[in-house]
Amino acid sequence: METQILSCSCEWLELARRYIEEGEVVAFHTETVYGLGANALSDEAVLKIFELKGRPADNPLIVHVHREYDISPLIDGEPPYAAALRRAFLPGPLTMVYPSTGKVSKYVSCGLNTLAIRVPSSPTAQEFLKCVDLPIAAPSANLSKHVSPVTARHVYDDFNGKIPLILDGGACSGGIESTVLDCTGKVPQILREGLVTREMISSVAGECGVYHAQNGEKPKSPGMAYKHYSPRCRTAFFNENELNEAVSLYKEAEKEGETPCFLCESDVCAQLFGFRTLDLGGTGEVMAQRLYDLLRKGEKVATLLIGIEPKQKGGVMAGVRNRMHRAFGVEHGTEES
Ligand code: TXA
Ligand code: MG
Repeated sequence: METQILSCSCEWLELARRYIEEGEVVAFHTETVYGLGANALSDEAVLKIFELKGRPADNPLIVHVHREYDISPLIDGEPPYAAALRRAFLPGPLTMVYPSTGKVSKYVSCGLNTLAIRVPSSPTAQEFLKCVDLPIAAPSANLSKHVSPVTARHVYDDFNGKIPLILDGGACSGGIESTVLDCTGKVPQILREGLVTREMISSVAGECGVYHAQNGEKPKSPGMAYKHYSPRCRTAFFNENELNEAVSLYKEAEKEGETPCFLCESDVCAQLFGFRTLDLGGTGEVMAQRLYDLLRKGEKVATLLIGIEPKQKGGVMAGVRNRMHRAFGVEHGTEES
């Protein structure tokens, strides 16, 4: 199968619609990361996503809809804060988990009685979703465990020859996946941190929890149990106080014929003059935007990628730190401050 990368013109949207109606899988731009979409009402189409990604069968998918799509047949009631959150943050990088009516394929939620729904703000995603006018199940468009894609080329690198079409909307402005928010309880609870922060949600809903699975407990958001976002090279991770150790490792690796490279925020890069570095930037928003692109660059230019933990916490950094920890295989502790 030939994989075409096409922009979002009427002709190509029509082609995308035909593929979706035929049960095919189509990749599309969103403001967070690219998605791998299929008709959420079709068992066969949804199963194709799991097969293509090599995704574990117990990791549920998010359903994407356009801004005018009526989600009420899909959800079985909602708490009072949900409408206010939708008004404040949608369309945008917030996925809301509701009690499900079970109208979409049972494979979407993998046996859970809830359904995750997202209304992306990317014009490409909106036009695609409007054109198909169906709920579209879509995980990030990367092979399972690999780094999420933030350009059409990244999707192509993972799925060339396996899907017919990538709807190109350019580089993703957000850069990390949406915030996943459990909206089934009295208080909303973040299951996956992202660009819509705990502070932002609290300011609208009054309160907002952050869920962390207790030891041995199956997480509420099953995807969070898996090693993720991993570059395909050796990795090491240090905090900013361990810069000397990181430099020693770099030098040792180089002596042994390896190609090490640092991934760190701008002011740490400045201290590492003369070493190979990938610059994450200086603010949470920029770090989110660059992280996945740099992880994918890192695996191409280096045999050993050395991550240095950014100093900043809170806001968007909660999501950035979470993704970095998981990319570098570090236990992700509670950051509930
Ligand atoms: O920004 C995003 O959310 C991107 C773009 C493509 O929209 N999508 C994305 O999908 O990141 P994925 O499949 O890579 O991650 C979905 C996450 C997983 O951690 C999954 O376990 C969780 O959402 N999830 C999905 N349905 C859920 C549900 N009913 N209850 C709890 N967690 C759910
Ligand atoms: Mg993913």
